[in-house]
Formats: sequence, structure tokens, C-alpha cells
Amino acid sequence: MNQRLSYEGQVAIVTGAGGGLGRTYALLFGSRGAKVVVNDLGGDTKGQGQSSRAADKVVEEIQQAGGIAVANYDSVEDGDKIVQTALDNFGRVDILVNNAGILRDRSFARISNTDWDLVQRVHLRGSFMMTRAAFPVMKKQLFGRIIMTASTSGIFGNFGQANYSAAKLGLLGLSNTVAIEGQKYNIRCNTIAPVSGTRMTEGILPPDLFDEFKPEYVAPLVLWLCHQDCEDTGGLYLTAGGWYGKFRWECTNGTMCRKSRDETVTPEAVRDHWDLITDFTHSYNPESGQEATAHLVGALQDLDSKEETSSQNTSNPTAT
Ligand code: NAI
Repeated sequence: MNQRLSYEGQVAIVTGAGGGLGRTYALLFGSRGAKVVVNDLGGDTKGQGQSSRAADKVVEEIQQAGGIAVANYDSVEDGDKIVQTALDNFGRVDILVNNAGILRDRSFARISNTDWDLVQRVHLRGSFMMTRAAFPVMKKQLFGRIIMTASTSGIFGNFGQANYSAAKLGLLGLSNTVAIEGQKYNIRCNTIAPVSGTRMTEGILPPDLFDEFKPEYVAPLVLWLCHQDCEDTGGLYLTAGGWYGKFRWECTNGTMCRKSRDETVTPEAVRDHWDLITDFTHSYNPESGQEATAHLVGALQDLDSKEETSSQNTSNPTAT
């Protein structure tokens, strides 16, 4: 367990790596032997402007520390160009960290089409375009590690972030399916929801948390999830300030609102069973769509067996 994690011989693409969280991932990958593609469009937090400076600076930092890196200044919407930079320079892609992001915060009543579209384009479509370009390369290699970057705003919602919340939880759905489809090719895909003091959270996080939740604390989770020894896939991890935890789904045991297969269910029946429907005292944690469906099928089977018992009781009134 003491062995230092190495990424020697591997190629990592980190999008939006010119600053904030992405920079710390790129630096750590570079210091652990990975050849790094440092992608960054170099715009502002709202996605305006463009500059090669941000990516170049991080490449210089990696090189000065003895690592190998190359810059790419394309938007993540041109995922194939960024993957091509990796292939042209290093011949493979082992790791993809979908990290680039912008904010266009507005209360829901005031959100414009542009605010909505730009955020979806960078976060959701950008991560899709990147992953779709990298996936066949990883499939051929029979190895790949992919990270999606979600947010507590996606998991719980957040005032003024309808566009961002939708994109961020969309990324979890994308990740879950990429994890399923990548499984047999040794491609693992996980999602992180970080909290960190970066330019994106400046003035939003309270100053003490801003200072304490350094981006450097998120990077170790990303590196472990991207290591060849880490077999976990389809997970969602929350992290800040050196704390790491895993999310999972929880569903109440629920209740069947009809007594037989030929009975219909009324809105009143749902109302009258509301306590049982929403009671988490008895719950389960489905880990797949199949598990969730199995629970529903089980409820149907219970209904059938109850129906059978009651018809036996009716036909044999002396049975106990
Ligand atoms: P940041 O603003 O420091 O970094 C984002 C980087 O992405 C910037 O360098 C920017 O130039 C780049 N970028 C933006 N659009 C791009 C595009 N189209 N193509 C390529 N690069 C582009 O922000 P931070 O905090 O480091 O955010 C990194 C990721 O983490 C984002 O996806 C963000 O939504 C997510 N996140 C951050 C949280 C935090 O507390 N800082 C909380 C939850 C999620």
C-alpha cells in the first residue's frame, strides 16, 4: 500500500487546466510521470475572451518541474482537436479530466437563452465532445480513465444556477452511461463534485473557506480515480479541503397503492399513502437501473401473492 502512484508512460488530457482546479490536476499528473495536454481557452469566468497565456503558463510550470506537457487552446466544444493534440504529440490518451467550465448565473425568471446555451455548451456538450473523441482511442488501448465534473449545485440545486445545475447533473447521467459502456474495455468513468477556492468561487465562498478549500486538495482524488489500480466506476464523489466522500442513491421502500392487478390507482390513493411513499425509515440503495427495476417487479410479485392468498382465503374460509 506504500507504493507511490505513478502515471509513467500515460497521457492525460486536462481541460480548463490553465487555472483553478484543472491547473492543480495537470501539475500533479506532470509530477507523477504523465505526459499532459494542458487545454485552456483562456477566457474569463463567463466564457468571454480568449488567450493562450493560461495554458502556456501551466505547461511551463510542469516543464520547469521536470515534467512533460503540451498546450492546447481549443474550446472543449472542439473535443476532437484536443484529443488530436494528445495523439500528435504523445500517441495515446489514457486519462481525460473534463474540468473546463464557466458560469452565467441568473435567477430563473431572468435567465436568457444565451445564458442557458453557453453553459450547456461548455459543460455538457464540451464534456460529451471530449469524451466521444477520446473513447475510441481508449477502447482500442483497452484502458481509459475519465472524470466528469459535477457540482453540489447540480445535486441539490442553487439559486441563480438553473443552467449550471442542469448541465452539472446532466454530466452525472453522461458519466453513469459511459461507465456502463466502458466497463468491458477497462474504461472507468467517475464524477466529482468539488468545492474549492478558485476565481469561480471568489466572492461566493466565505473568505475562510475560500482559503481553506485549496484546489490542491481536490487533485489527489482525481489522480486516484484515474490510476490503473482504481477499478471503481460510475461513482459520484464530494470533496473539499482534504475531505472525500461518496454519494449514492437512496429510495424509500415505498408502497403499492393497489390491492390487485385489475385495480386502478386514484390520486387520492397516492395522497393517502404519502407517509409510506416518503418514509425513509425503510429504504434501499439501488446501485443500478436493474436493481431499481427489480424492486418494482418485486412489488408486483408481492401484489400477486397477496391476491392469491386472499383468493385462497375466500375460497376456503376455514384456512388459517
Ligand atoms: P476556473 O474558472 O478557475 O477554471 C475553469 C477553466 O476552464 C478556466 O481556466 C477557463 O479558461 C477554462 N475554460 C472555460 N471554458 C472553456 C472552454 N470552452 N474550453 C476550454 N477551457 C475553458 O474554475 P474552477 O473552479 O477551477 O472550475 C473547474 C471546474 O470545477 C468547473 O467545471 C466548475 O464548474 C467545477 N466546479 C468548481 C467548484 C468550485 O468550488 N470551484 C464547485 C463545483 C464545480
